[in-house]
Amino acid sequence: MQWGKERRENEELFSLNRRRFLSLSGILGLAFISGKSDISMASAEKEGKMTYQIKDYNRLLGMEGFSNTLLKNHFTLYQGYVTNTNKLMDALNQLLKEGKTGTPEYAELKRRLGWEFNGMRLHEYYFENLGGKGGIQKGGKLFQKLTESFGSYEAWEKDFKATGSMRGIGWAVLYQDVLSGKFINFWINEHDVGHPIGGMPILIMDVFEHAFMIDYGLKRADYIEAFFRNINWTEVEKRLLLHKG
Ligand SMILES: [Fe+2]
Repeated sequence: MQWGKERRENEELFSLNRRRFLSLSGILGLAFISGKSDISMASAEKEGKMTYQIKDYNRLLGMEGFSNTLLKNHFTLYQGYVTNTNKLMDALNQLLKEGKTGTPEYAELKRRLGWEFNGMRLHEYYFENLGGKGGIQKGGKLFQKLTESFGSYEAWEKDFKATGSMRGIGWAVLYQDVLSGKFINFWINEHDVGHPIGGMPILIMDVFEHAFMIDYGLKRADYIEAFFRNINWTEVEKRLLLHKG
């Protein structure tokens, strides 16, 4: 199960102390961490030079249709992405300083950055577009733009839900194209693959199994309905590129 694999992977990496991180890096053939890098990472940890901060979404606890167990597990998963993004940034910066950018270690860490960084950001957009009550404001700017792009708000909602209901795991994302200002629903299969260039994320729905199976089992449609009942439309509206379209 992809959820299980992803969760295990992130829980493992999240809980890594520096010694285990070095050990795992060795197993993976990432023998890039010289004694110098080791010291640098330790210093960075000690000095608290974490580039990205973990955001607190405890305000969502108690949200109708989402158990606290599910949400807390999801928060932990998200925190792993922030931690790993910072670890990768530190390690890549160190390799840059040491002139080791031509190494396989640098290339593999650089490839992984897209997965960890997007895993962090996608979850932040997701949690931040939850916690609202009530539907979209009819007559508001977003309502108007969705109507223009899809013919009606209902047509957009149907397409977004259908996108999120597709077989497979990933994300349903409503993007606004920066160049044209137009809106399009995208399916993102992996965090780091398939995002439209210049796409501003307006609404994000996590449809990895960890996002719903604890509460809904295989009934993804019920989770999607619960998601819609809790969209924070005020937050979503703030993401609009009003000067476009
Ligand atoms: Fe998730």
